[in-house]
Amino acid sequence: MYVCLCHGVTDSEIREAADSGVSSMRQLGRELGVGTQCGRCACTAREILRENRSSDYMAMANMLAQPA
Ligand code: FES
Repeated sequence: MYVCLCHGVTDSEIREAADSGVSSMRQLGRELGVGTQCGRCACTAREILRENRSSDYMAMANMLAQPA
């Protein structure tokens, strides 16, 4: 699904960027241009970054909860 129409950026590309270490809207803007033109995509892009971070934390918490 396209999130940023101004720059033709999809949710998958935002998730890939997040997996590669992008963690803020500022970084996302620098990497993919998201939110740097009209700004309508900013809320959705921020939510995708937040979801990605949450799933990373859950994976880490599950890993730490495993008995050694
Ligand atoms: S839709 Fe992303 S900057 Fe316009």
